[in-house]
Amino acid sequence: MRDIPPSPWPDPTALAALQARERERFLAAHPTSRALAERCAAHYLYGVPLHWMRDWPNPVTLFVHAAQGAQLTCVDGHAYVDFCLGDTGAMFGHSPAPVAQAVAAQAAQGLTCMLPAEAAARVGERLAQRFGLSCWQLAMTASDANRFVLRWARAITGRPQVLVFDGCYHGAVDDTLVDRDPATGATVRRRSVLGGVHDHHAFTRVIPFNDLDALDAALADGQVAALLAEPALTNFGLVPPAPGFWEAAQALCRRHGTLLVLDETHTLSSGVGGYARTHGLSPDMWVAGKAVAGGVPCAVYGFTAEVAARMRAAKDAAPEGHSGIGTTLTANALALAALDAALEHLHTPASYAAMARAADALEAGLNARLHRRQLPWTVTRLGARMELQFMPRTPRNADDVRQHAQPALEASLHLFLLNRGVLLTPFHGMMLCSPATGDDHVARLLAAFDEWLDALGR
Ligand SMILES: Cc1ncc(COP(=O)(O)O)c(C=O)c1O
Repeated sequence: MRDIPPSPWPDPTALAALQARERERFLAAHPTSRALAERCAAHYLYGVPLHWMRDWPNPVTLFVHAAQGAQLTCVDGHAYVDFCLGDTGAMFGHSPAPVAQAVAAQAAQGLTCMLPAEAAARVGERLAQRFGLSCWQLAMTASDANRFVLRWARAITGRPQVLVFDGCYHGAVDDTLVDRDPATGATVRRRSVLGGVHDHHAFTRVIPFNDLDALDAALADGQVAALLAEPALTNFGLVPPAPGFWEAAQALCRRHGTLLVLDETHTLSSGVGGYARTHGLSPDMWVAGKAVAGGVPCAVYGFTAEVAARMRAAKDAAPEGHSGIGTTLTANALALAALDAALEHLHTPASYAAMARAADALEAGLNARLHRRQLPWTVTRLGARMELQFMPRTPRNADDVRQHAQPALEASLHLFLLNRGVLLTPFHGMMLCSPATGDDHVARLLAAFDEWLDALGR
Protein backbone atom coordinates (compact mmCIF):
# COMPACT_ATOMS: atom_id res chain seq x y z
CA MET A 1 0.00 0.00 0.00
CA ARG A 2 1.29 3.47 -0.90
CA ASP A 3 1.55 6.00 1.95
CA ILE A 4 -0.67 9.04 1.72
CA PRO A 5 1.68 12.06 1.53
CA PRO A 6 1.79 14.12 4.75
CA SER A 7 -1.01 16.68 4.73
CA PRO A 8 -0.14 20.39 5.15
CA TRP A 9 -2.70 20.48 7.95
CA PRO A 10 -2.40 21.65 10.67
CA ASP A 11 -0.78 24.95 9.85
CA PRO A 12 2.40 25.25 11.99
CA THR A 13 1.72 28.90 12.86
CA ALA A 14 -1.80 28.12 14.05
CA LEU A 15 -0.45 25.15 16.03
CA ALA A 16 2.19 27.32 17.71
CA ALA A 17 -0.44 29.95 18.58
CA LEU A 18 -2.69 27.30 20.12
CA GLN A 19 0.22 25.95 22.16
CA ALA A 20 1.07 29.45 23.42
CA ARG A 21 -2.55 29.92 24.60
CA GLU A 22 -2.52 26.52 26.30
CA ARG A 23 0.72 27.33 28.11
CA GLU A 24 -0.85 30.53 29.48
CA ARG A 25 -3.93 28.61 30.52
CA PHE A 26 -1.82 26.06 32.39
CA LEU A 27 0.17 28.74 34.21
CA ALA A 28 -3.00 30.59 35.29
CA ALA A 29 -4.59 27.40 36.65
CA HIS A 30 -1.59 26.15 38.64
CA PRO A 31 -0.31 28.76 41.09
CA THR A 32 0.62 26.14 43.74
CA SER A 33 2.56 24.00 41.26
CA ARG A 34 4.35 27.16 40.14
CA ALA A 35 5.31 28.03 43.71
CA LEU A 36 6.60 24.48 44.34
CA ALA A 37 8.53 24.57 41.07
CA GLU A 38 10.27 27.74 42.23
CA ARG A 39 11.24 26.16 45.55
CA CYS A 40 12.44 22.94 43.90
CA ALA A 41 14.52 24.89 41.39
CA ALA A 42 16.93 25.78 44.21
CA HIS A 43 17.79 22.19 45.15
CA TYR A 44 17.07 19.90 42.24
CA LEU A 45 18.66 19.67 38.85
CA TYR A 46 16.03 21.04 36.44
CA GLY A 47 13.86 21.59 39.53
CA VAL A 48 12.76 17.95 39.85
CA PRO A 49 14.02 14.88 41.75
CA LEU A 50 14.48 13.02 38.43
CA HIS A 51 15.19 15.14 35.37
CA TRP A 52 12.65 13.17 33.22
CA MET A 53 9.92 14.72 35.31
CA ARG A 54 10.37 17.82 33.16
CA ASP A 55 9.80 15.86 29.93
CA TRP A 56 6.17 16.95 29.83
CA PRO A 57 4.91 19.75 27.58
CA ASN A 58 3.44 21.83 30.46
CA PRO A 59 5.41 25.04 31.07
CA VAL A 60 6.04 24.29 34.75
CA THR A 61 6.06 20.96 36.57
CA LEU A 62 2.72 19.53 37.65
CA PHE A 63 2.97 18.48 41.30
CA VAL A 64 0.76 15.62 42.45
CA HIS A 65 -1.28 15.79 45.64
CA ALA A 66 -2.72 12.26 45.52
CA ALA A 67 -3.45 9.44 43.11
CA GLN A 68 -6.11 6.78 43.48
CA GLY A 69 -7.54 4.32 40.95
CA ALA A 70 -7.58 5.92 37.49
CA GLN A 71 -7.41 9.49 38.81
CA LEU A 72 -4.92 11.87 40.30
CA THR A 73 -5.28 15.31 41.79
CA CYS A 74 -2.68 18.03 41.57
CA VAL A 75 -1.67 20.41 44.34
CA ASP A 76 -3.97 23.07 42.85
CA GLY A 77 -6.96 20.78 43.40
CA HIS A 78 -7.60 19.83 39.76
CA ALA A 79 -8.60 16.23 39.06
CA TYR A 80 -7.10 14.31 36.13
CA VAL A 81 -8.12 11.08 34.50
CA ASP A 82 -4.86 9.21 34.17
CA PHE A 83 -4.12 7.29 30.96
CA CYS A 84 -0.36 7.51 31.60
CA LEU A 85 -0.57 5.52 34.83
CA GLY A 86 3.05 6.20 35.74
CA ASP A 87 4.07 4.93 32.28
CA THR A 88 2.66 1.52 33.26
CA GLY A 89 3.89 1.38 36.88
CA ALA A 90 0.29 2.02 37.95
CA MET A 91 -1.29 -0.16 35.24
CA PHE A 92 -3.58 -1.80 37.83
CA GLY A 93 -4.66 1.63 39.10
CA HIS A 94 -3.02 3.91 41.64
CA SER A 95 -2.63 2.45 45.13
CA PRO A 96 -4.69 -0.70 44.54
CA ALA A 97 -6.26 -1.59 47.90
CA PRO A 98 -4.75 -5.10 48.34
CA VAL A 99 -1.25 -3.79 47.69
CA ALA A 100 -1.71 -0.70 49.86
CA GLN A 101 -2.91 -2.89 52.73
CA ALA A 102 -0.11 -5.45 52.34
CA VAL A 103 2.51 -2.71 52.24
CA ALA A 104 1.06 -0.99 55.33
CA ALA A 105 1.02 -4.27 57.26
CA GLN A 106 4.58 -5.21 56.27
CA ALA A 107 5.92 -1.70 56.92
CA ALA A 108 5.48 -2.22 60.66
CA GLN A 109 7.32 -5.56 60.59
CA GLY A 110 10.64 -4.85 58.94
CA LEU A 111 11.45 -3.27 55.61
CA THR A 112 14.68 -4.90 54.54
CA CYS A 113 16.90 -7.62 56.07
CA MET A 114 18.95 -9.09 53.17
CA LEU A 115 17.20 -12.34 54.05
CA PRO A 116 14.05 -13.68 52.42
CA ALA A 117 10.77 -12.92 54.17
CA GLU A 118 8.34 -15.74 54.92
CA ALA A 119 6.24 -14.75 51.90
CA ALA A 120 9.06 -15.74 49.49
CA ALA A 121 7.94 -19.36 49.09
CA ARG A 122 4.37 -18.36 48.26
CA VAL A 123 5.56 -15.64 45.88
CA GLY A 124 7.75 -18.13 43.98
CA GLU A 125 4.78 -20.47 43.58
CA ARG A 126 2.54 -17.66 42.40
CA LEU A 127 5.14 -16.40 39.87
CA ALA A 128 5.49 -19.87 38.36
CA GLN A 129 1.74 -20.34 38.24
CA ARG A 130 0.94 -16.94 36.75
CA PHE A 131 3.74 -16.54 34.20
CA GLY A 132 4.54 -20.18 33.42
CA LEU A 133 8.31 -20.31 34.02
CA SER A 134 9.62 -22.54 36.76
CA CYS A 135 12.49 -20.57 38.28
CA TRP A 136 12.73 -16.89 39.37
CA GLN A 137 14.96 -14.11 40.62
CA LEU A 138 14.03 -10.61 41.71
CA ALA A 139 15.49 -7.18 41.03
CA MET A 140 14.50 -3.66 42.08
CA THR A 141 13.73 -2.29 38.63
CA ALA A 142 13.20 -3.60 35.12
CA SER A 143 16.47 -1.91 34.12
CA ASP A 144 18.28 -3.98 36.72
CA ALA A 145 16.47 -7.16 35.75
CA ASN A 146 17.48 -6.69 32.11
CA ARG A 147 21.06 -5.90 33.07
CA PHE A 148 21.26 -9.08 35.15
CA VAL A 149 19.57 -11.23 32.53
CA LEU A 150 22.15 -10.14 29.95
CA ARG A 151 24.97 -11.02 32.36
CA TRP A 152 23.51 -14.47 32.95
CA ALA A 153 22.92 -15.00 29.23
CA ARG A 154 26.53 -14.20 28.35
CA ALA A 155 27.79 -16.27 31.28
CA ILE A 156 25.86 -19.40 30.37
CA THR A 157 26.35 -19.27 26.60
CA GLY A 158 29.93 -17.99 26.59
CA ARG A 159 28.90 -15.69 23.73
CA PRO A 160 29.72 -11.96 23.73
CA GLN A 161 26.92 -10.39 21.66
CA VAL A 162 23.35 -9.42 22.45
CA LEU A 163 20.74 -8.62 19.84
CA VAL A 164 18.03 -5.98 20.14
CA PHE A 165 15.53 -4.34 17.82
CA ASP A 166 15.92 -0.83 16.49
CA GLY A 167 13.76 1.51 18.58
CA CYS A 168 14.02 -0.73 21.64
CA TYR A 169 13.97 0.49 25.20
CA HIS A 170 14.87 -1.82 28.05
CA GLY A 171 15.73 0.81 30.66
CA ALA A 172 19.08 2.29 31.62
CA VAL A 173 21.07 -0.70 30.30
CA ASP A 174 24.18 0.40 28.42
CA ASP A 175 24.15 -2.58 26.06
CA THR A 176 20.70 -1.66 24.78
CA LEU A 177 21.02 2.14 24.47
CA VAL A 178 21.87 1.84 20.80
CA ASP A 179 20.34 2.64 17.43
CA ARG A 180 20.73 1.25 13.95
CA ASP A 181 22.42 3.54 11.45
CA PRO A 182 19.87 3.47 8.61
CA ALA A 183 22.57 4.02 5.96
CA THR A 184 25.01 1.29 7.01
CA GLY A 185 22.95 -0.93 9.33
CA ALA A 186 25.72 -0.55 11.93
CA THR A 187 25.09 -0.39 15.67
CA VAL A 188 25.61 3.15 16.93
CA ARG A 189 25.38 4.74 20.35
CA ARG A 190 22.03 6.47 20.92
CA ARG A 191 23.05 10.08 20.49
CA SER A 192 21.06 11.35 23.47
CA VAL A 193 22.80 9.02 25.94
CA LEU A 194 25.19 10.81 28.30
CA GLY A 195 28.63 9.64 29.32
CA GLY A 196 28.84 6.65 27.00
CA VAL A 197 32.21 4.91 26.68
CA HIS A 198 31.20 1.43 25.47
CA ASP A 199 32.22 0.24 22.05
CA HIS A 200 28.66 -0.94 21.41
CA HIS A 201 29.46 -2.29 18.00
CA ALA A 202 31.63 -4.98 19.61
CA PHE A 203 28.88 -6.31 21.87
CA THR A 204 25.41 -5.35 20.61
CA ARG A 205 23.71 -5.94 17.27
CA VAL A 206 20.60 -4.03 16.18
CA ILE A 207 18.14 -5.08 13.51
CA PRO A 208 14.75 -3.76 12.38
CA PHE A 209 11.71 -5.20 14.14
CA ASN A 210 9.55 -7.66 12.16
CA ASP A 211 12.46 -8.60 9.87
CA LEU A 212 13.08 -12.36 9.97
CA ASP A 213 15.82 -12.30 7.31
CA ALA A 214 17.77 -9.75 9.35
CA LEU A 215 17.24 -11.88 12.46
CA ASP A 216 18.53 -15.01 10.76
CA ALA A 217 21.58 -13.14 9.45
CA ALA A 218 22.35 -11.58 12.85
CA LEU A 219 22.28 -14.96 14.59
CA ALA A 220 24.09 -16.95 11.91
CA ASP A 221 27.67 -16.73 13.25
CA GLY A 222 26.68 -18.20 16.63
CA GLN A 223 28.02 -15.21 18.58
CA VAL A 224 24.71 -13.93 20.00
CA ALA A 225 23.99 -14.93 23.58
CA ALA A 226 20.47 -13.52 23.70
CA LEU A 227 17.82 -11.74 21.73
CA LEU A 228 16.38 -9.25 24.22
CA ALA A 229 13.06 -7.93 22.96
CA GLU A 230 9.67 -6.60 23.86
CA PRO A 231 7.00 -8.73 22.13
CA ALA A 232 5.83 -5.44 20.55
CA LEU A 233 7.84 -2.23 20.48
CA THR A 234 6.08 0.00 22.99
CA ASN A 235 8.61 2.71 23.67
CA PHE A 236 9.12 4.03 20.16
CA GLY A 237 5.57 4.21 19.12
CA LEU A 238 3.51 1.07 19.43
CA VAL A 239 4.72 -1.40 16.79
CA PRO A 240 3.00 -4.79 17.00
CA PRO A 241 4.57 -8.00 15.70
CA ALA A 242 3.50 -9.09 12.21
CA PRO A 243 1.36 -12.26 12.21
CA GLY A 244 3.61 -15.30 12.71
CA PHE A 245 6.67 -13.17 13.47
CA TRP A 246 7.28 -14.43 16.99
CA GLU A 247 6.71 -18.10 16.21
CA ALA A 248 9.33 -17.87 13.45
CA ALA A 249 11.70 -15.69 15.52
CA GLN A 250 11.51 -18.15 18.41
CA ALA A 251 12.37 -21.02 16.04
CA LEU A 252 15.36 -19.08 14.66
CA CYS A 253 16.67 -18.41 18.19
CA ARG A 254 16.40 -22.12 19.00
CA ARG A 255 18.15 -23.10 15.76
CA HIS A 256 21.08 -20.76 16.45
CA GLY A 257 21.39 -21.55 20.18
CA THR A 258 20.47 -17.98 21.15
CA LEU A 259 18.38 -17.41 24.28
CA LEU A 260 15.07 -15.68 23.67
CA VAL A 261 14.50 -13.10 26.43
CA LEU A 262 11.16 -11.32 26.40
CA ASP A 263 10.93 -8.06 28.33
CA GLU A 264 7.25 -7.77 29.22
CA THR A 265 7.51 -4.71 31.41
CA HIS A 266 4.99 -2.92 29.17
CA THR A 267 3.37 -5.78 27.26
CA LEU A 268 2.14 -7.20 30.55
CA SER A 269 -0.89 -5.15 29.52
CA SER A 270 -1.57 -7.64 26.65
CA GLY A 271 -3.50 -10.11 28.77
CA VAL A 272 -3.32 -12.23 31.92
CA GLY A 273 0.31 -13.36 32.37
CA GLY A 274 1.56 -11.06 29.57
CA TYR A 275 1.98 -11.40 25.82
CA ALA A 276 4.00 -14.64 25.77
CA ARG A 277 1.47 -16.47 27.93
CA THR A 278 -1.47 -15.07 26.00
CA HIS A 279 0.04 -16.00 22.63
CA GLY A 280 1.62 -19.35 23.51
CA LEU A 281 5.27 -18.31 23.17
CA SER A 282 7.95 -20.03 25.27
CA PRO A 283 10.86 -17.68 25.95
CA ASP A 284 13.99 -18.97 27.69
CA MET A 285 13.96 -15.97 30.01
CA TRP A 286 11.24 -13.45 30.80
CA VAL A 287 11.34 -10.03 32.49
CA ALA A 288 8.76 -7.74 34.07
CA GLY A 289 9.02 -4.67 36.28
CA LYS A 290 6.95 -1.54 36.93
CA ALA A 291 3.40 -2.87 37.51
CA VAL A 292 4.39 -6.38 38.50
CA ALA A 293 4.11 -5.56 42.21
CA GLY A 294 1.30 -3.02 41.76
CA GLY A 295 3.67 -0.06 41.43
CA VAL A 296 5.95 -0.75 44.40
CA PRO A 297 9.58 -0.87 43.16
CA CYS A 298 10.18 -4.48 42.20
CA ALA A 299 11.06 -6.49 39.11
CA VAL A 300 11.22 -10.19 38.36
CA TYR A 301 12.91 -12.44 35.84
CA GLY A 302 11.94 -16.01 35.18
CA PHE A 303 13.64 -18.80 33.24
CA THR A 304 13.23 -22.43 32.32
CA ALA A 305 14.59 -25.31 34.41
CA GLU A 306 17.19 -25.94 31.71
CA VAL A 307 18.41 -22.32 31.86
CA ALA A 308 18.41 -22.49 35.66
CA ALA A 309 20.72 -25.53 35.55
CA ARG A 310 23.10 -23.67 33.24
CA MET A 311 23.04 -20.62 35.53
CA ARG A 312 23.90 -22.76 38.54
CA ALA A 313 26.76 -24.39 36.65
CA ALA A 314 28.17 -21.00 35.59
CA LYS A 315 27.95 -19.59 39.13
CA ASP A 316 29.43 -22.72 40.74
CA ALA A 317 32.33 -22.67 38.28
CA ALA A 318 33.13 -19.00 38.93
CA PRO A 319 35.62 -17.92 41.64
CA GLU A 320 34.18 -16.77 44.99
CA GLY A 321 33.13 -13.09 45.09
CA HIS A 322 30.79 -10.61 43.46
CA SER A 323 28.73 -11.95 40.59
CA GLY A 324 27.85 -8.44 39.42
CA ILE A 325 24.22 -9.48 39.74
CA GLY A 326 21.92 -8.16 42.47
CA THR A 327 21.54 -5.08 44.67
CA THR A 328 21.23 -4.83 48.45
CA LEU A 329 17.56 -3.87 48.67
CA THR A 330 16.42 -6.39 46.07
CA ALA A 331 13.56 -8.67 47.19
CA ASN A 332 13.16 -6.68 50.38
CA ALA A 333 10.21 -7.51 52.61
CA LEU A 334 8.12 -4.57 51.41
CA ALA A 335 8.57 -5.50 47.75
CA LEU A 336 7.77 -9.16 48.44
CA ALA A 337 4.60 -8.21 50.33
CA ALA A 338 3.47 -6.01 47.44
CA LEU A 339 4.33 -8.67 44.85
CA ASP A 340 2.46 -11.32 46.82
CA ALA A 341 -0.67 -9.16 47.00
CA ALA A 342 -0.41 -8.11 43.36
CA LEU A 343 -0.05 -11.68 42.12
CA GLU A 344 -3.07 -12.77 44.12
CA HIS A 345 -5.40 -9.85 43.53
CA LEU A 346 -4.27 -7.86 40.46
CA HIS A 347 -2.89 -10.27 37.86
CA THR A 348 -6.33 -11.80 37.45
CA PRO A 349 -8.80 -12.42 34.63
CA ALA A 350 -11.18 -9.96 36.30
CA SER A 351 -8.60 -7.13 36.20
CA TYR A 352 -7.86 -7.77 32.55
CA ALA A 353 -11.53 -8.01 31.61
CA ALA A 354 -12.11 -4.57 33.13
CA MET A 355 -9.05 -3.16 31.35
CA ALA A 356 -10.22 -4.60 28.02
CA ARG A 357 -13.72 -3.17 28.46
CA ALA A 358 -12.34 0.34 28.91
CA ALA A 359 -9.84 -0.11 26.07
CA ASP A 360 -12.60 -1.33 23.71
CA ALA A 361 -14.63 1.81 24.41
CA LEU A 362 -11.63 4.09 23.99
CA GLU A 363 -10.49 2.47 20.75
CA ALA A 364 -13.99 2.61 19.26
CA GLY A 365 -14.44 6.26 20.30
CA LEU A 366 -11.10 7.36 18.84
CA ASN A 367 -11.64 5.47 15.59
CA ALA A 368 -15.15 6.93 15.19
CA ARG A 369 -13.67 10.42 15.46
CA LEU A 370 -10.86 9.73 13.00
CA HIS A 371 -13.40 8.36 10.57
CA ARG A 372 -15.95 11.15 10.99
CA ARG A 373 -13.32 13.87 10.57
CA GLN A 374 -11.50 12.01 7.78
CA LEU A 375 -8.17 12.09 9.55
CA PRO A 376 -5.37 9.94 8.05
CA TRP A 377 -4.33 8.71 11.49
CA THR A 378 -4.27 5.30 13.14
CA VAL A 379 -5.10 3.82 16.51
CA THR A 380 -2.85 0.81 17.17
CA ARG A 381 -3.92 -1.44 20.00
CA LEU A 382 -2.25 -4.07 22.14
CA GLY A 383 -4.46 -5.34 24.95
CA ALA A 384 -5.19 -2.54 27.38
CA ARG A 385 -2.73 -0.19 25.68
CA MET A 386 -3.18 1.82 22.52
CA GLU A 387 -1.52 4.62 20.67
CA LEU A 388 -2.84 7.38 18.48
CA GLN A 389 -0.39 7.56 15.59
CA PHE A 390 -0.21 10.46 13.16
CA MET A 391 0.21 8.13 10.19
CA PRO A 392 -2.20 6.30 7.92
CA ARG A 393 -1.33 2.74 9.01
CA THR A 394 0.16 0.80 11.88
CA PRO A 395 3.98 1.00 11.71
CA ARG A 396 6.09 -2.11 11.03
CA ASN A 397 9.35 -0.89 12.54
CA ALA A 398 11.15 2.06 14.09
CA ASP A 399 11.98 3.71 10.76
CA ASP A 400 8.28 3.85 9.93
CA VAL A 401 7.71 5.69 13.20
CA ARG A 402 10.61 8.08 12.58
CA GLN A 403 9.28 9.01 9.16
CA HIS A 404 5.91 10.05 10.53
CA ALA A 405 7.01 11.82 13.72
CA GLN A 406 5.12 15.05 14.44
CA PRO A 407 6.49 16.29 17.78
CA ALA A 408 4.70 19.67 17.72
CA LEU A 409 1.32 18.03 17.13
CA GLU A 410 2.00 15.50 19.87
CA ALA A 411 2.97 18.22 22.37
CA SER A 412 -0.19 20.13 21.46
CA LEU A 413 -2.40 17.08 22.08
CA HIS A 414 -0.73 16.44 25.44
CA LEU A 415 -0.99 19.95 26.82
CA PHE A 416 -4.50 20.54 25.50
CA LEU A 417 -5.75 17.35 27.15
CA LEU A 418 -3.83 18.06 30.36
CA ASN A 419 -5.59 21.44 30.56
CA ARG A 420 -8.89 19.58 30.32
CA GLY A 421 -8.09 17.04 33.03
CA VAL A 422 -6.70 14.16 30.97
CA LEU A 423 -3.17 12.81 31.33
CA LEU A 424 -1.41 10.93 28.50
CA THR A 425 2.02 9.26 28.56
CA PRO A 426 4.44 12.13 27.93
CA PHE A 427 6.83 10.64 25.38
CA HIS A 428 4.23 9.61 22.78
CA GLY A 429 0.49 9.24 22.21
CA MET A 430 0.15 6.15 24.39
CA MET A 431 -3.00 5.53 26.43
CA LEU A 432 -3.29 2.74 28.96
CA CYS A 433 -6.51 1.58 30.64
CA SER A 434 -6.49 0.26 34.20
CA PRO A 435 -9.17 -1.89 35.85
CA ALA A 436 -10.38 1.34 37.49
CA THR A 437 -10.80 3.18 34.17
CA GLY A 438 -14.53 3.66 33.65
CA ASP A 439 -16.86 4.85 30.90
CA ASP A 440 -16.89 8.35 32.39
CA HIS A 441 -13.08 8.51 32.17
CA VAL A 442 -13.09 7.40 28.55
CA ALA A 443 -15.85 9.91 27.76
CA ARG A 444 -13.77 12.68 29.27
CA LEU A 445 -10.79 11.86 27.07
CA LEU A 446 -12.96 11.65 23.96
CA ALA A 447 -14.66 14.98 24.71
CA ALA A 448 -11.28 16.68 25.18
CA PHE A 449 -10.02 15.07 21.96
CA ASP A 450 -13.05 16.46 20.09
CA GLU A 451 -12.40 19.90 21.54
CA TRP A 452 -8.75 19.71 20.43
CA LEU A 453 -9.69 18.75 16.88
CA ASP A 454 -12.24 21.61 16.82
CA ALA A 455 -9.50 23.99 17.98
CA LEU A 456 -7.28 22.77 15.15
CA GLY A 457 -10.10 23.46 12.71
CA ARG A 458 -10.72 19.87 11.74
C1 LIG B 1 10.10 -2.54 28.10
C2 LIG B 1 10.80 -1.84 29.22
N1 LIG B 1 11.77 -2.47 29.88
C3 LIG B 1 12.43 -1.88 30.89
C4 LIG B 1 12.12 -0.61 31.29
C5 LIG B 1 12.87 0.02 32.43
O1 LIG B 1 12.04 0.12 33.54
P1 LIG B 1 12.60 0.91 34.82
O2 LIG B 1 12.71 2.33 34.38
O3 LIG B 1 11.52 0.72 35.83
O4 LIG B 1 13.89 0.32 35.18
C6 LIG B 1 11.11 0.09 30.63
C7 LIG B 1 10.78 1.48 31.00
O5 LIG B 1 10.05 2.17 30.37
C8 LIG B 1 10.42 -0.54 29.58
O6 LIG B 1 9.47 0.07 28.92
